[in-house]
Amino acid sequence: MDHRPGPRRRARLIAAALLVAAGIVTATLWPRGLRPGRGSEPPPQPIAFSHRVHAGENQIPCLYCHVYARHGAVAGVPSVQRCMGCHTITAVASAEVQKLQGYWMRQEPIAWVRVFRQPDFVFFQHRPHVQAGIACQTCHGQVERMDRVREAVVLDMDRCVACHRAQQASIDCLTCHR
Ligand code: HEC
Ligand code: HEC
Ligand code: HEC
Ligand code: HEC
Ligand code: HEC
Repeated sequence: MDHRPGPRRRARLIAAALLVAAGIVTATLWPRGLRPGRGSEPPPQPIAFSHRVHAGENQIPCLYCHVYARHGAVAGVPSVQRCMGCHTITAVASAEVQKLQGYWMRQEPIAWVRVFRQPDFVFFQHRPHVQAGIACQTCHGQVERMDRVREAVVLDMDRCVACHRAQQASIDCLTCHR
């Protein structure tokens, strides 16, 4: 009997070893506290857009604006055009909405500051999670109550793996690192 690992298994072991090395370097050079937006303090945004007003009070569905979350890797942030679908007539006297109209007139995209972001060595897609029926709030907190989105849930490896274990999804390293 030959007990040496087969070529596929060997490739996976090498990949895992490289991954651990890369992870240690990254973890050392990129302290958690310095990652943009990590923690409870919401980053400033170019326009005072409020989820409490839109998704809370006015009950606009998450997927109306984050249209790719069900079928794509990313959830997507709405274009200025999508905002203007309402704001050519809604709240046009507001200074913040006039700022929005400025972007529309200049045909300039809004540079929203990211809040939830994984390091490059993590593979994540929305599709399998949204299709498994996991609520946005499980991973992002009660966004519909927030005027400014903050990282209410820190999606570190422990949290990802704990849920995968509980829901019998894969906990193979290469599921999330490839
Ligand atoms: C489906 C309709 C709809 C869409 C789409 C929409 N909004 Fe709104 N927005 C509203 C409503 C309704 C209000 C509340 C107006 C009020 O209370 O007078 C509002 C309020 C606002 C306000 C606050 C106005 C104030 O009171 O000062 C801002 C700023 C704003 N929206 C920006 C945006 C941006 C940016 C987008 C796109 C990312 C967007 N909205 C997309 C309907 C919408
Ligand atoms: C009217 C459009 C609109 C609706 C409805 C909406 N969002 Fe958003 N969302 C935005 C915009 C614009 C941003 C970027 C600005 C910001 O972070 O506030 C954003 C940002 C986010 C972010 C942060 C993304 C990042 O940078 O990491 C999360 C998470 C999020 N939304 C979740 C939700 C959830 C959950 C719902 C439903 C409860 C929802 N959104 C409903 C427009 C919307
Ligand atoms: C299983 C956890 C999980 C669920 C469920 C989830 N997200 Fe996310 N979301 C994440 C992670 C992790 C990131 C950061 C991804 C990255 O940086 O690669 C993210 C990023 C985002 C972003 C910013 C980047 C992008 O993809 O456009 C938005 C917006 C967002 N999520 C909205 C939503 C909405 C809306 C829902 C519900 C329909 C949802 N998320 C469900 C974990 C989740
Ligand atoms: C609340 C539970 C939950 C959390 C948190 C969660 N996941 Fe998942 N994830 C699942 C479930 C359930 C599936 C399996 C869906 C299926 O079988 O179709 C899955 C599937 C996946 C897949 C696809 C696996 C495949 O075989 O195609 C990847 C990749 C993934 N998750 C990465 C992540 C990462 C990275 C994080 C953390 C940032 C994370 N997940 C957090 C529940 C979760
Ligand atoms: C379900 C998804 C998932 C699985 C499975 C997973 N990881 Fe991770 N891993 C992550 C996420 C997410 C991070 C980033 C954590 C952060 O941003 O704080 C991470 C980070 C790391 C890091 C960097 C150090 C750190 O803690 O930030 C290393 C090294 C690592 N993983 C190795 C592994 C190994 C080895 C395995 C298999 C035994 C594994 N991972 C399985 C999601 C996963």
